[in-house]
Order: sequence, then structure tokens, then C-alpha cells
Amino acid sequence: MKNSTLGNPLKLSDKVTIKNRFHKSAMSETLGTKQNNPTPLLVTLYEAWAKGGAGLLVTGNVMIDRKALGEPGNVVIEDERDLDMLKKWAQAGTQNETQLWLQLNHPGKQSPKSVSKTPVAPSAIPLSGHVSNIFNKPRALTVEEIKDLIKRFGNAARIAKKAGFTGVQIHGAHGYLVSQFLSPHHNQRNDEWGGSLNNRMRFLLETYHEIRRQVGEEFPIGLKLNSADFQRGGFTEEESMQVLKKMSEVGIDLIEISGGNYENPVMMESSSNNRTKTREAYFLEYAEKARKIISVPLVVTGGFRSEEGMTNAIKSNAVDMVGIGKPFVLMPDLPNRIFAGTYQTMEIKPIRTDVKWLDARVGSMLDLGWYEQQLVRIGKGKNPKPNYCPWLSLIQNMANHGLEVFKKRRA
Ligand SMILES: Cc1cc2nc3c(=O)[nH]c(=O)nc-3n(C[C@H](O)[C@H](O)[C@H](O)COP(=O)(O)O)c2cc1C
Repeated sequence: MKNSTLGNPLKLSDKVTIKNRFHKSAMSETLGTKQNNPTPLLVTLYEAWAKGGAGLLVTGNVMIDRKALGEPGNVVIEDERDLDMLKKWAQAGTQNETQLWLQLNHPGKQSPKSVSKTPVAPSAIPLSGHVSNIFNKPRALTVEEIKDLIKRFGNAARIAKKAGFTGVQIHGAHGYLVSQFLSPHHNQRNDEWGGSLNNRMRFLLETYHEIRRQVGEEFPIGLKLNSADFQRGGFTEEESMQVLKKMSEVGIDLIEISGGNYENPVMMESSSNNRTKTREAYFLEYAEKARKIISVPLVVTGGFRSEEGMTNAIKSNAVDMVGIGKPFVLMPDLPNRIFAGTYQTMEIKPIRTDVKWLDARVGSMLDLGWYEQQLVRIGKGKNPKPNYCPWLSLIQNMANHGLEVFKKRRA
């Protein structure tokens, strides 16, 4: 067994210690039924990850409103109808002393045409650019609806706790509803929910307080936040820092940093400008600045591939945990391999057919479809297939979703 900095426990509070520094970041599994109930595939998948050695597993986004899906196959928690299956999922993912946090999300306007005729958002501002044809124009939420959504976040967190999940994470990144409220471009309301940063932050803050009210003081609540939207007129790094400061003052337990949204999906791009030249992860420089203003434990997600890059990020004290997505799909037991000294790095290339016009049309969809199919394999108790042909993946996707493949994209 290799003695690694990555194996050091992380104490979040007197009651909660994470056994090591590996943070499996949220990846939407789309393994729910057509009616959005959790399935046994999730149980098997999380069993594999829990046995694989990560300290903290964050689930893929679970929606808090059946009327607002990010994609077909999302799990929805609105009431206790699925408590038995949620318990099985929680039990599988918490074995081996693993923390299992459920990611709570509402997609806002990032709910595709195939699932939302009229999505809701802070303001009736459509998405622009290459994704504009995938999403219908949203309508603005009423104040009553905003208050109802906040309650729903709290209720879903309460049910997650009751089922045995050991924490929750608010998805405040990637252009979904919380992130839309934070953005001066997407939120142009002139009531107390829009305008100044304090007003734009209100939805996140109230959501946090409602969750805290429903789960109690000792249950960990995390937040995934954009370092910036990387959009003109969008949420900036300075604003993001102010949100971090406020959330740390009110008692958030762990902050995961990412960036981008559907219009500019920097979190998925390995060639991203956010990837520093000297280090492989995208948002480390932001984390170093954040460190100076808050003491809440920090995670950065996006780009970690090598044991050396992960170890250096912890040793340099830039972050407390390394957030990892795609490598965990290809190698569910990545931490165990690092501790056994049998892993150095892996290369992750975008999944492409190499037919230019087709890749331009379905590029990021190919990636997501390909990774989701790997998750199905693991959910069925099989090994992932790193050399799975992109063409077969595309055909499989078309068999499942028809021509929607050419429309449905997420990030
Ligand atoms: C198939 C897939 C689904 C994803 N779903 C989510 C999600 O539900 N919630 C979320 O916060 N991020 C989601 N992400 C983004 C990842 O958490 C992570 O930020 C991104 O993959 C970059 O990290 P990596 O370079 O280690 O893969 C998803 C990524 C992939 C590949």
C-alpha cells in the first residue's frame, strides 16, 4: 500500500470526516425509469464506486420537480414514493466508509425541447448560440413559484437524509437554475430576486437555509459553483468570490469549483483556457485566490488525470479534495489503484467519429452518450469498455432516442 497524501482523511466537522481526498464528481447517470424513479442499476453502479476507494461520491443530478427535467431518465425526488429504492442506493454507496452525497438540481431554462415545452427561468431570456435550437424560450418564474422551488430543494434533501445519503450538494454551477439566478445576463428581474448581487444570490441563500432547516445542523451541505460563466455580461470571478464568502459565512460545508454552461461548456473541454499551463486541472488558480478569503474546504473539478497532478494539488494546499469525473467512469477503482501504486495517468480524448460535419452536429452529445453507456455497463455489473467504438455508441444512442440524438445535449 502506497503512502499517499491523497489518502489523508479530511475532517469537515466534529461529526463528519471524509476518509481520503478523492471526490467523485456528479455525473448524470440517466438511469432512472421513464417515470423518473431510481433503479437497481444505480445500486450496482454505486456499489462499484464505493468499493473503488473514493472518500466522497456525489451522485449525478437528481431533480426536485417532475415538470423540470434536465434530460429523460433523471431521477426525481418530490415525495417518499421511492424511499425503498433510495435506501438501497444509499446503502450501496456508503459501504466501505464512503460518504455519499446526493446532488440536487433544477435545470431552469436548460431543459431541452424534448422534455419541456415552456421551461422556467428567472427571466424570459432564451439561450443563445449553438444550443439555442435545443431549448424553448423560457418564461419567468412567479414569486410564488420561486418559493415553492426553494421548499422542494429542502424536501428532497430531507428525503435523501431519511434514505441514508450522508450529505447533499446544491448544483449551483453549469448554467442551471441556481446559476441562472446568479447571472446578471440570465437574471434581469427587478424584484428582490434580481438586480444587485445580493438579490441574485437570494435564491441560493434561501435554498441553503431551507435545506439546513429540513436536515439539521450536522448534515453536510455542499455547493458546486462556477468560478465564472465565461460569458460577456455573465457571472464574473469577482462575483463568484463574493458568493463563496457569503456561503462560507452561513455554514456551507464543502465547495466544489467548476465553470461554464451549455452556451460555453468550458467544464467539459480539455483544451480549455482555464487549464493552467503548468497544472492539469482547470480551476486551480481560482481555488488559490478563494483560499485567501474563505476557510471552507475546497474541491476543484475538471482535468485531473495523473496521480502526480492530483497529489500536487493537495500538497500545494490549493485544494482539499480532487474532483474527478470521466476517469471514474473508465476506472471505478481509481483510488484503490493509486493506493496500490499501479496507476500513473490516463489520457481522455473527446469521443468523435472524425467525420467533421457529424462531429460538429453531435460532438458533445457523442461524449455524453458514450459515458452514459459506460455507466449502464457498470450498472449491469460489467466492466467499462474504454475502446468502445464512437460509431456503435452513436447507433445505440439513436436506437434509444431516435433523431433526438441530434438535439439532446447537456454539459
Ligand atoms: C456524462 C457526464 C454527466 C455529467 N453530469 C453532471 C451532473 O449531473 N452534475 C454536475 O455537476 N456535473 C456533471 N458533469 C460534469 C462533471 O461533474 C465534471 O465537472 C466534468 O466531467 C469535468 O471533470 P473531468 O475532467 O474529471 O471529467 C457531467 C459530466 C459527464 C461526463
